[in-house]
Amino acid sequence: MTGTEALSDVPTTFTIGGDLPVRRLGFGSMRIAGRGVWGEPTDREGVLRTLKRAVELGVNFIDTADSYGPFVSEQLIREALHPYPGVVVATKAGLTRPGPDQWAPRGDPDYLIAEARGSRERLGVERIDLWQLHRIDPTVPRLEQFQAIRALLDAGVIRHAGLSEVSVEEIEAAREIFPVSTVQNRYNLADRSSEAVLDYCTANGIGFIPWYPLAAGRLTAKDSVLSRIAAGLGANPGQIALAWLLRRSPVVLPIPGTSQVAHLEENVRAASITLSAEDFAVLDRAGRDE
Ligand SMILES: NC(=O)c1ccc[n+]([C@@H]2O[C@H](COP(=O)([O-])OP(=O)(O)OC[C@H]3O[C@@H](n4cnc5c(N)ncnc54)[C@H](OP(=O)(O)O)[C@@H]3O)[C@@H](O)[C@H]2O)c1
Repeated sequence: MTGTEALSDVPTTFTIGGDLPVRRLGFGSMRIAGRGVWGEPTDREGVLRTLKRAVELGVNFIDTADSYGPFVSEQLIREALHPYPGVVVATKAGLTRPGPDQWAPRGDPDYLIAEARGSRERLGVERIDLWQLHRIDPTVPRLEQFQAIRALLDAGVIRHAGLSEVSVEEIEAAREIFPVSTVQNRYNLADRSSEAVLDYCTANGIGFIPWYPLAAGRLTAKDSVLSRIAAGLGANPGQIALAWLLRRSPVVLPIPGTSQVAHLEENVRAASITLSAEDFAVLDRAGRDE
């Protein structure tokens, strides 16, 4: 099989919660806020252009959070894309921001419910399509946090709910209380610590949103496996890292983040690169050995 031969088992869409189809290469909007994910970006116009360009290129899944800025990412998304025709905006709450590059979990139910309502207002929607618990707060009983999510679903504030940075055991505990539509854990070719969670999501039709999808680490070095395969396909290593994620499981929904149109265009092109089974396997082994 050649590297460019199309494989029919790499679907181009994933359906969130069984009724919300999105293209499988989304856009992560953490990096559109200022340095340290804090305040306004230096190049505000550039960020607004990048968001609009993402949608022009066919991206229809945008990931954000109340804590990116805080609030700045959600506000910029609204400014660029409201009323979001055909676009799913997913947001999160559960991390507070004491300052730039600082994050602290907060999961008391009243806070989570108030934050979800705040995101709904900032985004200017009647109902948030996908809302994710950014972290389970270890100082609050997890059942109370899951019940807050159940209440948000029941009240129609949110349509679907997900979790972030969780184990299989935590997903199973949450599923006792509400349907878990997505899980967002750190995962990429060279960081496979969430392999068991991804396998669980694949088996249960739960969307798996790998954050930090481009951190291919040493694999991107000159003469690495990633760069050799990329050169053979006329692509760059980052695109191959994304193509590998898309091939890894049909529930994977990568959200590479960028504040630059050129990088966005490069990342979106990765969705049309189909890896051969051999290239996938070679990369898989190399990533596991990292
Ligand atoms: N659930 C969680 O706890 C969690 C945590 C972190 C992030 N996230 C989500 O995941 C998304 C992605 O994660 P991430 O931003 O940490 O990692 P990432 O997408 O792997 O990497 C983003 C970084 O790579 C650069 N980049 C992007 N495309 C590039 C390209 N084609 N060439 C060169 N550099 C490129 C960006 O800089 P430029 O702006 O210069 O392009 C940015 O610094 C975030 O936006 C956020 O929505 C979730």
